[in-house]
Amino acid sequence: MSIEDLESIAQAMVAPGKGIIAIDESTNTIKKRFEAVGIENNEENRRAYRELLLTAPGLNEHISGAILYDETIRQKTKDGVPFTQVMKKNGIIPGIKVDKGPVPLAGFPGDVVTEGLDGLRDRLAEYVKLGAQFAKWRAVINISDDNPSSTAIEANCHALARYAALCQEAGLVPMVEPEVIMDGDHSIEVSYEVHEAVLRSLFNALYEQNVMLEGTILKVSMVIPGKDCDEQAEVEEVADATVRVLKSTVPASLPGIVFLSGGQTDEQSTAHLNAMNRIGPHPWPLSFSYGRAMQQAALKLWSKDMKGNYVEAQKTVAARAKENGMAALGQWNG
Ligand code: 13P
Repeated sequence: MSIEDLESIAQAMVAPGKGIIAIDESTNTIKKRFEAVGIENNEENRRAYRELLLTAPGLNEHISGAILYDETIRQKTKDGVPFTQVMKKNGIIPGIKVDKGPVPLAGFPGDVVTEGLDGLRDRLAEYVKLGAQFAKWRAVINISDDNPSSTAIEANCHALARYAALCQEAGLVPMVEPEVIMDGDHSIEVSYEVHEAVLRSLFNALYEQNVMLEGTILKVSMVIPGKDCDEQAEVEEVADATVRVLKSTVPASLPGIVFLSGGQTDEQSTAHLNAMNRIGPHPWPLSFSYGRAMQQAALKLWSKDMKGNYVEAQKTVAARAKENGMAALGQWNG
C-alpha cells in the first residue's frame, strides 16, 4: 500500500462532519459498562450490542469509521454477515484496537506503559486480512504530584511510534492515542503542561521511527482540569487551551485530529468539540472518536428492554453521531 492510499484512508476518517465511534472496549472494560446497567457480560450480549450499534440506520451519515476489539472484528450479524462486511457496505471504515493495555512502569510508581509490541507485525497482518484499514494504540498518562515522569512519557511515545511504523508497513493507518487521564485534582494549567510535553515527545518519536504523518491520525484527550479540581473550566477555556497546545505541538501535515471523551458527559464532549471548531479554521480537521460519549445513552436504553428498546437505542446512537458530526463542523446548537 502506498502513502497515497494511507493518506486517503486517513482523510476519509476525518471527512467534514464525520467522526469515529470507538466500540473497542476489551472484554474486561465492556464488563464494567454492562455491569453498570445490569447486562450480563457474555459473548452473545456483546455481539448483539455491537450489532445494534454498527447497524443503526443513518449512523454512516456522521460516522466514517468504527474501532473494533479483537473479538468483535471476528463477529457476524445474527444473519451471519461479518461485521466488517456490513460496515464496508455502509461506508464505515473498520478499525482495530491492537494494544494490550497499560501495565505499571517498573521503577516509576503511578506511571503505566502500554504493552503489545511483541508479535504485533503478525497480528496486524491478520487484521488486514480480516478487513481492518486503521488501527488504534492507547497510551495512558496519569497525573498526580509525582506523575507523569519524563521516563513514562518517553516510554509510551516510543511504543506509540514503533506501533505506528508497523501499522504503515502493514498498510494500516495508525491512530496514535496518548490519553492524559482526567482523574485527580490538577488544574487546567497542569493538564496543558502535560499535554504539551506528551505531544512534543510523541511527534519527536514518530519522526525518529520514520512514521509518515500524512498517513497518521492523532487521537487525544482535551486540556481539561482534573475531575476533583475545585476550579472547573468554562467550555471556551477548554477549547482555547486544547487548540493552543495542538497548534504548538502538532505538525500541519497531519490529516486530522480526533478526541476521546475520557469520562466527560455527552453534552460536555459535544460542546467542547463544537467550541474548538467555532474558533477555527485550524491546520487540521478536529473531530471525535468517542466511546462512552457516543454510546452511554443508547446502552442505558437497551439495558432496560433489549427487544422493546432496540430501535430506540439505535436512534439514540445515531442522534449522538449527528450531534457530534455537527460539532465537528462548529454547527452544533445545543
Ligand atoms: P472514551 O471516549 O470513552 O474515552 O473512549 C474512547 C477510547 O477509545 C479510549 O481509548
